[in-house]
Amino acid sequence: MHAQRRKPSRSWLIFVSLAAWGLFLASCVTVERTVVAPPQIAGATYVGSKQCAQCHTDIADHFSTASHAKLVASGAGAQDTGCENCHGPGSLHVKAGGGAGTIINPQKSPETCFQCHLDKRGQFSLPHSHPVLAGKVSCSDCHDPHKDSAIQGGGAALAASTETCLKCHTQQAGPFTYAHGAIREEGCVACHNPHGTVNAKMLVARDANLCLRCHLSTLNAGFNIGGYKSGGAHANAIGTRLSEGNCWSAGCHEGVHGSNVNASLRP
Ligand code: HEC
Ligand code: HEC
Ligand code: HEC
Ligand code: HEC
Ligand code: HEC
Ligand code: HEC
Ligand code: HEC
Repeated sequence: MHAQRRKPSRSWLIFVSLAAWGLFLASCVTVERTVVAPPQIAGATYVGSKQCAQCHTDIADHFSTASHAKLVASGAGAQDTGCENCHGPGSLHVKAGGGAGTIINPQKSPETCFQCHLDKRGQFSLPHSHPVLAGKVSCSDCHDPHKDSAIQGGGAALAASTETCLKCHTQQAGPFTYAHGAIREEGCVACHNPHGTVNAKMLVARDANLCLRCHLSTLNAGFNIGGYKSGGAHANAIGTRLSEGNCWSAGCHEGVHGSNVNASLRP
């Protein structure tokens, strides 16, 4: 009886260690490459990005820098399927020498992107969002699918992201005599989520917290940024004014993006 009881516990141990080893191997694979399910084309199979490069050299030249270049599709012939992540499997298209109707061209439609970025459909359905679902703005207005689609992070990526916004929002471009340091340090996304939020103007916070994330010392120690040196006076003023509105309400720091008349971004 005892021997028989021990037996299953030994094989259980073997099972656990095998499972752990299996998980370890799987994690080694997924660190390098994410398996995804791209759009399908009836009767077609994956051929890999190298095939596409034969004819679409202009696009293929920069593609190695794109985040999507590293993804692997599930299904037959699944190696190196970068282009086919968005365009679907390309065997019929290649066989036809590039025939029309044999490959998916997403054009301005976000549907291909939603295939994998399902959460983004939700973000663009929020009450304040860019009109992507209405077809007036597209994912590719802000993300280049063929190179460097990553526009996150600091440095050049941050500058590029801000430049992208200013293509359409010229009013916020300045140049301003008194530019707001927030844009220099964190770009437009310091205060806006360009996919969408529940707050008016796609702001990431609807109240003074939007500003206090960076200006907390203003409230505690009086106004200690810029030239104005008063002690607790500003803190008192904030208390009164905030009960009536926001840091950026009329008469206060209306020039949140920059000002040509006042260093404190006031009218
Ligand atoms: C043998 C050459 C050839 C190969 C290989 C090839 N294409 Fe094409 N592709 C073409 C031609 C030609 C066109 C039509 C170009 C035009 O109309 O301007 C085209 C058009 C396209 C279009 C636009 C289709 C449309 O309806 O607007 C996409 C997207 C595309 N190719 C993607 C790919 C992908 C992805 C691969 C690799 C799986 C690939 N192509 C491989 C020649 C090729
Ligand atoms: C992240 C998704 C994505 C990936 C990956 C991708 N594309 Fe595209 N591709 C698009 C979108 C979106 C469009 C439509 C762009 C537009 O009209 O604004 C497009 C358009 C095209 C076109 C139509 C011609 C044109 O310039 O408008 C061709 C050809 C093409 N892609 C080829 C490729 C090739 C070759 C690869 C791989 C080297 C590739 N694509 C990888 C999303 C992708
Ligand atoms: C086949 C699935 C798939 C499709 C289709 C797809 N993506 Fe992606 N995308 C991914 C995955 C997976 C990642 C995460 C990549 C990583 O972690 O390196 C990603 C990452 C991104 C990123 C962030 C890049 C980064 O480095 O942080 C952006 C932006 C993006 N995708 C935009 C798009 C747009 C726009 C489209 C449509 C034109 C699209 N994607 C279509 C799977 C897909
Ligand atoms: C108005 C410009 C704009 C549009 C339109 C847009 N994006 Fe973005 N997206 C951005 C910016 C800016 C970031 C970087 C956000 C950050 O750094 O905080 C980003 C980040 C991302 C990321 C990576 C971070 C994350 O949130 O997962 C993905 C994936 C992405 N976008 C997908 C999409 C897809 C899919 C669409 C279309 C349905 C789209 N975006 C439309 C500006 C845009
Ligand atoms: C392709 C052009 C385009 C690009 C690029 C673009 N936007 Fe927009 N933006 C629009 C349009 C169109 C609207 C909607 C205007 C309307 O509904 O009246 C809008 C609306 C907004 C609004 C809300 C305005 C309001 O009145 O509610 C904010 C904030 C905004 N965009 C910020 C950004 C940021 C931040 C970026 C960069 C990450 C960006 N936009 C990139 C076209 C663009
Ligand atoms: C420090 C926070 C902050 C930063 C950074 C910021 N914004 Fe704003 N933005 C705001 C606030 C607050 C409002 C709302 C102003 C109002 O309601 O009067 C706003 C409003 C807007 C609007 C709507 C304007 C209108 O007249 O309705 C647009 C468009 C916009 N911002 C674009 C941008 C762009 C583009 C950038 C980057 C260059 C940017 N913002 C950076 C805080 C910011
Ligand atoms: C991402 C961080 C960040 C956010 C968020 C932010 N700011 Fe700023 N702000 C800065 C930086 C950096 C400076 C420049 C400070 C300096 O150069 O001494 C600045 C400067 C200012 C100044 C000018 C002070 C002066 O005399 O130089 C005012 C006023 C101001 N911010 C108000 C606001 C308001 C109002 C909000 C909210 C709508 C806000 N800030 C949100 C980072 C931020």
